[in-house]
Amino acid sequence: MYIDVAFLPSELPSDISSKTVIVVDVLRASSTIVTALGNGCRRIIPVADVERARQIARELGNNVLLCGERGGLKVDGFDFGNSPLDYRANIVSGKDIVFTTTNGTQAIQAARNSRTLFVGTFLNLSSVVRRSLGLGDDVIILCAGRRGTFSLEDSVCAGMFVKELCVLGGFRIKLRDSALAAKQLFASFQGDIQKVFHASEHGKILLSLGMERDLDFCALIDVFNIVPLFQKDSLQPS
Ligand code: MLT
Repeated sequence: MYIDVAFLPSELPSDISSKTVIVVDVLRASSTIVTALGNGCRRIIPVADVERARQIARELGNNVLLCGERGGLKVDGFDFGNSPLDYRANIVSGKDIVFTTTNGTQAIQAARNSRTLFVGTFLNLSSVVRRSLGLGDDVIILCAGRRGTFSLEDSVCAGMFVKELCVLGGFRIKLRDSALAAKQLFASFQGDIQKVFHASEHGKILLSLGMERDLDFCALIDVFNIVPLFQKDSLQPS
């Protein structure tokens, strides 16, 4: 079982039809998706474009929340932005969410032709690792990046996925060079996720917007055991 890391959506191979792809956008789309589904949201429809998101929400009618960000901030007229702390059980339980973000939902769209598409982050890391190993297909961990450039926090999280896949998968696991590099990067921070966030470009932007509590939450490990699975144009808890 080969493990690969794509540090950007543009690095995905053209044929991913036999792969498990784990989409990682730690700050904050993956963390928000995992939190909403973990708190009882029925499904999340990831959309690349703001206007398309408005249209889909209108078509779906009742019981739908229209959510997401641009520039880290809630889009005008949307119900919620991209803070995982907003997605509490009393708000999202039983609801559908139409969701658009700058990088995360684009990465999900880029991976939609994979055999299996999971969304992963620190908050559900062990569950995603177990599910991926259970399937037995080659795995690509896809970092959402930032507007087509490398993202430190996504790459460090990818490295932790690689490490845990090695720990649980043992001799079955073979690492591509990209996976080895991500694993080494994760090791270099010695498990200090807050240090990663505070050093990263996107972490600094969120701090400047007063979103320190989001960073604290997104650094937590294995809070949820759900694995968001992309099926029929939406993410559902599995
Ligand atoms: C994204 O998808 O680009 C992000 O999740 C941005 C954010 O922190 O809101």
